[in-house]
Amino acid sequence: MSAAAVLCGVGSYLPPRVVTNDELAGRMDTTDEWIRSRTGIGRRHVADPGTATSDLAVEAGARALKSAGRDSADAVVVATMTPDHPCPATAPAVASRLGLTGAAAFDVGAVCSGFVYALAAATGLVSAGVARRVLVVGAEVNSTVLDPADRSTSVIFGDGAGAVVLRAGEPDEPGALGPFDLGSDGTGADHIMIAAGGSRQRGSDAPAGPGDAYMTMRGQEVFRHAVLRMAASSRSVLAEAGWDVADLDRVVSHQANQRIINQLADDLGVPRDRAVSNIERVGNTGAASIPVALADAVDRGGLDEGDRVLLTAFGGGLSWGSTLLRWPPLDGS
Ligand code: COA
Repeated sequence: MSAAAVLCGVGSYLPPRVVTNDELAGRMDTTDEWIRSRTGIGRRHVADPGTATSDLAVEAGARALKSAGRDSADAVVVATMTPDHPCPATAPAVASRLGLTGAAAFDVGAVCSGFVYALAAATGLVSAGVARRVLVVGAEVNSTVLDPADRSTSVIFGDGAGAVVLRAGEPDEPGALGPFDLGSDGTGADHIMIAAGGSRQRGSDAPAGPGDAYMTMRGQEVFRHAVLRMAASSRSVLAEAGWDVADLDRVVSHQANQRIINQLADDLGVPRDRAVSNIERVGNTGAASIPVALADAVDRGGLDEGDRVLLTAFGGGLSWGSTLLRWPPLDGS
């Protein structure tokens, strides 16, 4: 029988600089009250100029490996929409800087769903016998793609990285991931987009416009799809696992907006106090948001051994994905 992928370590890293809502209100037409009431966000971490996604990923990866009590992995998967470069992928650099030169290493591009997609890819590597231990990182320097004049995106996104270590194990042990549900709807591709820098813009006669390297977002469309897609995807994995909603101890959803987190919990019928949230302190960290929330919950005693946990994400693409696990003991932490 093929091996299951078992979560055995978690860690995160946030750049030290904190930007409060009041600081943003000093730069653009917004207020702390508007941001808190519409998003639940109070502050976010922002990387210093010159800091790249791999810099954050290496720190988070090292912490996850330490939590797993290991210093090696034979594959590294990095989920990001802000890679260090369009080419090569960011993961090989992360692997080498962690002393893992020689490991299989690649990036996953599924925007804010990227971490769940990366978990699924890593699970596939383990079950196919390609890797016995995989470091899975979600990392973003979102501040590099935010238009400083766009108040709808600037107030939401933050920078950060989170990581987990998966090892080969048994399907019925705590930490075993699965089942997975993944999906996409490319008809909504322009709801969240960075127009420039890829073959579509470079292959056209039109040069990139001044704002085309920034992210654009249709907030209300994204909001509506986020709740619908995460709820449907969550129900799908619960049904496949034979778990009842009432069995869930914790829901760790993509930290996009506190109102999305609340509405998802309400739609699923999960009490809101079971929905893990750290968005007030970190904002939306894209592909990093779920592992950053997991590491934060571990640090604050918000995840107990044996807890039945739902992970569910939504992002640009449009894309979405969910999985389940029982929270494992973390020996190295
Ligand atoms: N400060 C003050 N006012 C703002 C603002 C800000 N930061 N951002 C937008 N507004 C204004 C708008 O211009 C609009 O003004 P108008 O009525 O004069 O035209 C008003 O607030 C309402 O805008 P609207 O877009 O309807 O607000 P909203 O309640 O939908 O909130 C978002 C906007 C972006 C916070 C919300 O749509 C959202 O969170 N969407 C999901 C985004 C997300 O999760 N993205 C990542 C997914 S992976």
